[in-house]
Amino acid sequence: MKTFLLSTAALLLFAGFFSVTSLFAEEPAVLFEKLTCHTCHGPQGRGMIRMEDKERYYLRQKKMFRQMVKDGIPVKTVKKLTPLYKKKFDKRGDFVQAIEKLIGKADTAKYQDIIIKIGGRIYYHKGDLIPGFEDYPRHAGNKKIYLYQQMKDILEGRRTNGNSEAMRGIKPYIESNKITDEDFMSIAEYLSNVKEVE
Ligand code: HEC
Repeated sequence: MKTFLLSTAALLLFAGFFSVTSLFAEEPAVLFEKLTCHTCHGPQGRGMIRMEDKERYYLRQKKMFRQMVKDGIPVKTVKKLTPLYKKKFDKRGDFVQAIEKLIGKADTAKYQDIIIKIGGRIYYHKGDLIPGFEDYPRHAGNKKIYLYQQMKDILEGRRTNGNSEAMRGIKPYIESNKITDEDFMSIAEYLSNVKEVE
């Protein structure tokens, strides 16, 4: 009898666990991704911004070495940098450190601006907008009622312009997932509570 009771309790706990997880499955944060909102409004509605820096530092071309000489770095210093010919760095700090090892602190301080100008490529920084999404709004921190109303207006065709048409492409998802006004409201509430990226 005791084992029976225990296993029933375990079963109930188990069932409870599952109903909780299925509840979580419809959480606004999950819905936001399931309905592909994040592909236009960024993770958590923070906007389509870069989440990290992308930069490269390298001296992989002969012409870069020639340029250093042209820009006033002594040939013997430039020669010391040849071990960098095959290397690539993602971080400015690592690149500068590698330079320092080869030519020393004083010359690095003297010439690093020239070298970085020649060997550095900055593609984008954390927080930069992704090209093409400049007009796509971010939601984090906006007012709940405002967000709710805009979603409804866009999806029901009251707010129309070139850009809102893009969003109406998700209407089939909204319908097939049987999204209700309460769901929209809870998404709006969720977005209004997301902190903006500093
Ligand atoms: C295909 C891209 C795309 C998808 C997917 C998308 N949106 Fe949008 N959304 C837009 C664009 C573009 C606008 C701006 C429309 C305009 O300029 O009138 C917009 C506007 C909004 C606005 C109004 C913002 C404001 O500040 O006025 C809200 C709120 C919103 N979307 C929420 C959502 C939610 C929630 C989802 C997922 C259910 C979603 N969007 C999915 C492209 C998209």
